Amino acid sequence: MRYALKGGGTKAIEKQKATGKMTARERIIALLDPKSFHEYDLFVEHAGKDFDMDKKYLPGDGVITGTGTISGYPACIFAQDFTVAGGSLGWMHAKKITKIMDHALNLKVPLIGINDSGGARIQEGVNSLAGYGEIFYRNTMASGLIPQISVILGPCAGGAVYSPALTDFVFVVDKISKMFITGPEVIKTTIGEEISMEDLGGARVHAETSGNAHFFAESEQECLDQIKQLVSFIPWNNERKAKSFPKKPPRSRTYKIDEIFPTNPRQPYDIREIIKSICDDSEFLEVQKLFAQNIVIGFARLGGETVGFVGNQPLVLAGVLDVDSSDKAARFIRFCDAFNIPLVTLVDLPGYLPGVDQEHAGVIRHGAKLLYAYSEATVPKITVILRKAYGGGYIAMCSHHLKADFVFAWPTAEIAVMGPEGAANIIFRNEIKNAENPEEVRKQKIKEYKEKFANPYVAAAYGYIDAVIDPSETRKQLIYALEVSSDKKVYLPEKKHGIPPF
Ligand code: HXC
Repeated sequence: MRYALKGGGTKAIEKQKATGKMTARERIIALLDPKSFHEYDLFVEHAGKDFDMDKKYLPGDGVITGTGTISGYPACIFAQDFTVAGGSLGWMHAKKITKIMDHALNLKVPLIGINDSGGARIQEGVNSLAGYGEIFYRNTMASGLIPQISVILGPCAGGAVYSPALTDFVFVVDKISKMFITGPEVIKTTIGEEISMEDLGGARVHAETSGNAHFFAESEQECLDQIKQLVSFIPWNNERKAKSFPKKPPRSRTYKIDEIFPTNPRQPYDIREIIKSICDDSEFLEVQKLFAQNIVIGFARLGGETVGFVGNQPLVLAGVLDVDSSDKAARFIRFCDAFNIPLVTLVDLPGYLPGVDQEHAGVIRHGAKLLYAYSEATVPKITVILRKAYGGGYIAMCSHHLKADFVFAWPTAEIAVMGPEGAANIIFRNEIKNAENPEEVRKQKIKEYKEKFANPYVAAAYGYIDAVIDPSETRKQLIYALEVSSDKKVYLPEKKHGIPPF
């Protein structure tokens, strides 16, 4: 027993620590509540026979599995042990993982997987591949039933990356996480490109560029703390609601809504500050903070209840929607909807990003994901239009037409097909062109257009806005709207499943 607990032995453990990594067992102990870890299958042995594998003992077959609690919340967990055959995945290693996955699904508790592995155990051939297939299948079956969290604390190479990609949240740590389908050596041999492992698939790359990671940390301890915070915001399974907390006011000395929101309509501001000026204790857990920063998503509480915030970020690209921001928000909306988390949408955007790059990158298909996700979501949906809501952006950001339950607007809201400058240039083109002083006429027409359309009252006159509210009333209105919609039930038409624009 003591031998099995020692993983790959002193030398391998020293090597692991020299790279700044904790051991698999230390990670589990640090993440779970003290003394809550119950380990299973410690004595499982590997099934490899070829290449002298039958003469080798691999403690626990390179993966530790069990159950425990995080701040009192139950969870099933596995952690690959790199000190044992590089955490490589053989058949019995995979069986341990699929067994704890089945357990998580039967018990309806979150699954946390800590990945630190050289990938498929080469000596076990097709049995290793079979093991991955069994894992991917279970990841897919568990999707939307229990939250699945992947933590990348070492290499995660080859097809192994597809298990994290099928889960809900991927955590990475700077200089420690490495994720790629084909490594630098293979890339060099096949297409002649040279790149370091860090630049190819390091933590920063996945947090900033590829969008594969949802949370980035500087150290393993910070990463584990982020997981604890996330778990406190989400329910254990799709039949529950997230745990309620005592209601706390925002830290209004630091986050003053009237000081954050500029009087000049052209001046950008940080939407995260607005969220913090509204939510309980100004605590906002931002998801995918470094990726597609023109949209902000994350969890907070209003009146003690978890909500998912989606907000355009005027600080980055004026908050436009594009390929990446649509993907980012759509996936988050689907998570919130699957796990009974109401959605609060804050709107301030000039529309979808124009340009050849975006059109060719499929902004039509990706942008449609956002429409699909909002339309399909049946959780309470509350929208606040702060400033601009132009064109397709107005519709896509959870308008009444996509069945928002409440749409509020601040008096500064501008709801129109496009911005006043663009609109005036098109519809008054001839008048401007033929005028004695075209610039004067252009200005006059922009002013006229603004007065007519760039306000919330035209949309409110058609009932597309439920109420024009003072910004300082936003928190109160949102909490009220959430309370009255807490028993919301919407039945979608019966079908096997829809076909979202994946
Ligand atoms: C068997 C493996 C292994 C593997 C590492 N080891 N990867 N054993 N199968 N896939 C073993 C090593 O032989 C070594 O054993 C120990 O783990 C530690 O490995 P090192 O190489 O010494 O560690 P390090 O220098 O830190 O390098 C880590 C590494 C490298 C970058 C991950 O080991 C590596 O490149 N491994 C192979 C990666 C790979 O190509 N995997 C297959 C991907 S394809 P000893 O006994 O010497 O301590 C795949 C397909 C899945 O996964 C498909 C699913 C659809």
